[in-house]
Amino acid sequence: MRAVRIDRFGTPEVLGLVDAPPPEPGPGEVLIRTVATSINPVDDKTREGAIGEGTPPLPMTLGWDLAGVVVDGGDSGLRAGERVVAMSHQLGFGRGTWADLVALPARAVAVAPQAVSLVEAAALPLAGLTAWQTLDWLGISAGERLLIAGAAGAVGGLALQIARARGVTVDALVSRDAQAGFARDHGADLVTTDPHALHDRRYDAVFDTYGAFVTEAVADGGRYASIATQAGPVPDLSSRGVRTTVNQVREDGAGLSELTELVDSGSLRLRVHATFGVHEIKAAHERFRRGGLAGKVVVAF
Ligand SMILES: NC(=O)c1ccc[n+]([C@@H]2O[C@H](COP(=O)([O-])OP(=O)(O)OC[C@H]3O[C@@H](n4cnc5c(N)ncnc54)[C@H](OP(=O)(O)O)[C@@H]3O)[C@@H](O)[C@H]2O)c1
Repeated sequence: MRAVRIDRFGTPEVLGLVDAPPPEPGPGEVLIRTVATSINPVDDKTREGAIGEGTPPLPMTLGWDLAGVVVDGGDSGLRAGERVVAMSHQLGFGRGTWADLVALPARAVAVAPQAVSLVEAAALPLAGLTAWQTLDWLGISAGERLLIAGAAGAVGGLALQIARARGVTVDALVSRDAQAGFARDHGADLVTTDPHALHDRRYDAVFDTYGAFVTEAVADGGRYASIATQAGPVPDLSSRGVRTTVNQVREDGAGLSELTELVDSGSLRLRVHATFGVHEIKAAHERFRRGGLAGKVVVAF
């Protein structure tokens, strides 16, 4: 089978589409034929060698996102031929999804949304679970006011839609005017590119996707979650009674099922900026690195 592997760190030139032995599913695992995956910032950083401690040994197969078709469901209840989505914690367990065949624990897998193609569905797993789990940590509920920093990015754009579906009022901090329209169209109230335009101590919760650390915006007694691991910890706000975290995404098939329901009900719209064939994996990474995206870079197998 084909797999996208690296045997050294560096630019997209180190990516190789190689012939690799197919995985043998173990107990409790599902064997999936990959139809599409997407590129996440962690894939770019892993390829570069920027993750440091905790990186799986080389050579490694990259990739976290997976949309595909079940080959062997084992004892999971999933049938051969069923369309599924999954997120593999590639850094934690070394099971990269950028391969024709992937074996994953059944608890990481969910039935794919019916309303979209598997190419579109590949935009969901990592970004969607990060949004879902971080909103859960924030414990945000209907009637509360949430600020999302990076509200038009992959994670932020899904968090905005999920929060709106839960009846939360959302303000959006975005990087450029081109993103403001997306945030407004998806129900954001105040939309700004200027952190100084945010209301001081107004938000019950802040979801920070890029290390903005707009800590003056959160209300005393509120909650502040960052996902920007590379930016370091959120400053200590305990003197104001604010709980803080840097959230780390976890494999979570049950969470993915909730997300696929939101896609099928029309509450969650997935955005694909560009699709490349797996043989174009270097060009796909180059496109991802150029930025200015309005959706995910998807790789089709
Ligand atoms: N901890 C975890 O488990 C976890 C999980 C997923 C992602 N992450 C991390 O979270 C970050 C976001 O991931 P993502 O997939 O959502 O990436 P993304 O699609 O690039 O989204 C980031 C968003 O933040 C915006 N942004 C960046 N700098 C900004 C600034 N100074 N002012 C305003 N907006 C700014 C970007 O705008 P532009 O497009 O204009 O740059 C983009 O819209 C990445 O660093 C990723 O590694 C962590």
